Amino acid sequence: MKADNFDFFCKFLQKQTGTALGPGKEYLVESRLSPIARNHKLADTDTVIAAMKTNANSPLVRECLAAMMTHESFFFRDIRPFDDFRKSILPGLIERRAGTRKLRIWCAAASTGQEPYSLAMILQEEATKLAGWSVELIATDISPMALAYARDGLYTHFEVQRGLPAQMLVKYFAKEATNWRIAPAIRNMVSYREFNLLEDPSLFGSFDVVFCRNVLIYFDQETKGRVLERIARRMPNDGVLFLGGAETVIGITTRFAPVAGLRGVYAPGSTPVLAAAS
Ligand SMILES: C[S@@+](CC[C@H](N)C(=O)[O-])C[C@H]1O[C@@H](n2cnc3c(N)ncnc32)[C@H](O)[C@@H]1O
Repeated sequence: MKADNFDFFCKFLQKQTGTALGPGKEYLVESRLSPIARNHKLADTDTVIAAMKTNANSPLVRECLAAMMTHESFFFRDIRPFDDFRKSILPGLIERRAGTRKLRIWCAAASTGQEPYSLAMILQEEATKLAGWSVELIATDISPMALAYARDGLYTHFEVQRGLPAQMLVKYFAKEATNWRIAPAIRNMVSYREFNLLEDPSLFGSFDVVFCRNVLIYFDQETKGRVLERIARRMPNDGVLFLGGAETVIGITTRFAPVAGLRGVYAPGSTPVLAAAS
């Protein structure tokens, strides 16, 4: 790929999706765009980029941007955040929302569905405490392909072996040939929407809990700050934000502060807070 095409693509990718590629990532762009060149019968990746330049809104452009996303995810990823959600955050929220009996949760980079389905399984396990409640679980991602996979809810044997406890597999999945299909009851708890985190999420309303895990790592500091600022505006003062293990708000925004004792968990406001329940 020509150097000026690589530069163009990196700038375009960052502007459209927030993903900042470091220098020396030509091989990555080449390897992700080559299959697209072949599928569209274009000579090479330089020709793909030339086509992108002529129409910035074409399906080809969306395909190229989506191809650069990393969809790595697994059920109950890192375990701890899901335990913290179930044991430390949910009980407090159930108490505080007893008046309205409404709970809204947003998975802001849902990828292929393992994260929202992990939360849905937890909510199902806690169903007796939430009987009569309106619980909304909205899962968004920039990638239509990842969302289609998530909506389909069919996972390979490898995927269900990563992080999913055996009893959850038996309880919430049905075998289909060599794959596993998520139970309709869990599937139907999640609403999927295509959404770019660089845009304003206000149309989704406000959320008591936001999982925005393992996506900010791809953004530069300024973009992380902007995304977190917008998420903060969508949360009540007692809302809770979960970030990925390699992500933090510290040094990026004062709109969130760590929740003491819960790693990767943050609350709106600038002073550290105690966990609401334990
Ligand atoms: C590594 S996956 C993380 C999935 C899940 N949150 C987890 O922790 O397992 C990152 C996801 O972020 C999505 N993504 C990247 N940039 C995005 C953006 N600007 N808006 C929304 N989603 C984005 C990608 O499509 C990908 O599915």
